[in-house]
Amino acid sequence: MDAISVIRAKRDNGRLTDAQIDWIIDAYTRGEVAHEQMSALAMAIYLNGMDRAEIARWTAAMIASGERMDFSALPRVTTDKHSTGGVGDKITLPLAPLVAACGAAVPQLSGRGLGHTGGTLDKLESIPGWRAALSNGEMMAVLADVGSVICAAGDGLAPADKKLYALRDVTGTVESIPLIASSIMSKKIAEGTSALVLDVKVGSGAFMKDIAAARELATTMVGLGTDHGVNTVALLTDMSTPLGLTAGNALEVRESVEVLAGGGPADVVELTLALAREMLAAAGLPDADPAKALADGSAMDHWRRMILAQGGDPDADLPVAREQHVVNASSAGVLTTLDAYAVGVAAWRLGAGRARREDPVQAGAGIELHAKPGDQLVAGQPLLTLHTDTPEKFPYALEALNGGVLIAPKGTEFEPNAVVLDR
Ligand code: URA
Repeated sequence: MDAISVIRAKRDNGRLTDAQIDWIIDAYTRGEVAHEQMSALAMAIYLNGMDRAEIARWTAAMIASGERMDFSALPRVTTDKHSTGGVGDKITLPLAPLVAACGAAVPQLSGRGLGHTGGTLDKLESIPGWRAALSNGEMMAVLADVGSVICAAGDGLAPADKKLYALRDVTGTVESIPLIASSIMSKKIAEGTSALVLDVKVGSGAFMKDIAAARELATTMVGLGTDHGVNTVALLTDMSTPLGLTAGNALEVRESVEVLAGGGPADVVELTLALAREMLAAAGLPDADPAKALADGSAMDHWRRMILAQGGDPDADLPVAREQHVVNASSAGVLTTLDAYAVGVAAWRLGAGRARREDPVQAGAGIELHAKPGDQLVAGQPLLTLHTDTPEKFPYALEALNGGVLIAPKGTEFEPNAVVLDR
């Protein structure tokens, strides 16, 4: 077998055979296939796609590239959630301890942000002392003791995806349904969860900009999970505007703690509860009541134990950026657009995200929103507060927001998108 014949087959819009797929994934993981060859193949897949059988085999080969975890010794059923990525998407933070408080085990392997989308690990690292890197043994111990753990995936889990994702990120080949579906599902299946709820984001701040593409991605991932014995469901949720009222690491931790304390923005609470109900039902606990666990403090209790178990101090003050800049409403009227992509890029430029994997992030940087689409505005009222340690970045952030905020005249009829679009 050789890489060039595999690339040519997909370049010419052919089907890859099982043997070709198994060989190329294995040879790439071992370093026998060069990055430039794999990036040519990724582009051919991006342009010509793969059928369901090819995607299933590609996913299986990525799972086989590394180890599989096994949670069967735990007394609780494991259930997990994965979001396809968005702006202000802090849902994992309140969700994992909430679902644990309701009786399931949540092994949440999470990632870092890249580009305009935030990453759960970057957010949690703004808590003094908190550690993302746990050994498999430490992860199991936190899971057994607290019921939920949020940590980085070890190097042994789907190593083919680690290499391929980093390559796709710099070769314009991320937004491909076969490649996204196999990337996410190989990690989730190798992780060994019994149940999985996928939060497939739709809109400007998501990889899938329209609902038809998001539906196809969701259907593909649910099929892969089901075929591997993982009880998988997907929700399609809105990412045309940021979730909640913050985008940025410490800012989002603060907002998540508000949700765990029984408050927080309505859309974050609604999505957290919707995903919790799906996770609990998929784990065979349909009668658990996540709203009660938020109200009675048991979710907060699990959060504090989870943060402590990973070296963090749940009572520590969170970092605050050195400089702030307030953006005011340019006119009175109805806010019709607060574009997720524009806010995500602006927060990234302020220092909340990174341009390269090795870059540091600023814990305090980001954007606070003072209004959401559908709100009535008075001219001159504060709309956004930008936070950064590097104020020379304000003009670049403001440039990113250009065209991302639209205000219609007073009295204009406007219905904001629902949080959950479909199941
Ligand atoms: N998240 C992943 O893990 N992989 C992708 O390809 C896209 C989002």
